[in-house]
Amino acid sequence: MQVLHALLLTLGSFLAVNAQSLHMGRCPVPPVQQNFDVAKYMGTWYEVQKLPAFFELGKCNQATYTLQPDGVVKVVNAELLSDGILNAIEGTARVKNASEPAILEVNFFEGTPGAPYWVVSTDYENYSLIYSCTNYLGFLYVDFAWIMSRARTLPEATVTELLGKLTSSGISVKRMTVTDQTGCEDMV
Ligand SMILES: *[C@@H]1O[C@H](CO)[C@@H](O)[C@H](O)[C@H]1NC(C)=O
Ligand SMILES: *[C@@H]1O[C@H](CO)[C@@H](O)[C@H](O)[C@H]1NC(C)=O
Repeated sequence: MQVLHALLLTLGSFLAVNAQSLHMGRCPVPPVQQNFDVAKYMGTWYEVQKLPAFFELGKCNQATYTLQPDGVVKVVNAELLSDGILNAIEGTARVKNASEPAILEVNFFEGTPGAPYWVVSTDYENYSLIYSCTNYLGFLYVDFAWIMSRARTLPEATVTELLGKLTSSGISVKRMTVTDQTGCEDMV
């Protein structure tokens, strides 16, 4: 199953090189947010910038997190497609090891391996920096990164600082793109 998943993902990478970031080597390991408080992190976050993600097709991308009584986080990702259709997907996020609360795993399809969701840095009220990286076949990795904001925009200085955090951990930000957060009024 793991091997099949790896092969499919690798194949997918070659077929869609522009839709995700494939690199030689092993995943960078950035430091994560100290004393991460998942409860303070709940609510809606808007995407400001990201590395290419084949599973995101539209604009106005946002994520809404809700902490459930069992400690599992309900995740709803939403975006607006070019034809004006709202595209939403629901999943879960959970902390695997209570000693590492900023390292979560997200899962949108039951029975498939989850994806890493590392909270590299957040102040809970303004910005969040997420990193997700998976090693394949021992010599390849595919990574994703998102700069999120409580508002649809973030001050340029904050964005620059967060990009700097990625760079200083050896993560390439060359392919970061700015998310279109205009014309999102129809969403809600
Ligand atoms: C949980 O994280 C701690 C701190 O990083 C580590 O020492 C421990 O081995 C981890 N436990 C498991 C089950 O992975
Ligand atoms: C969020 O940004 C506002 C405006 O810059 C600032 O006043 C506030 O202190 C920030 N929140 C945190 C937790 O740093």
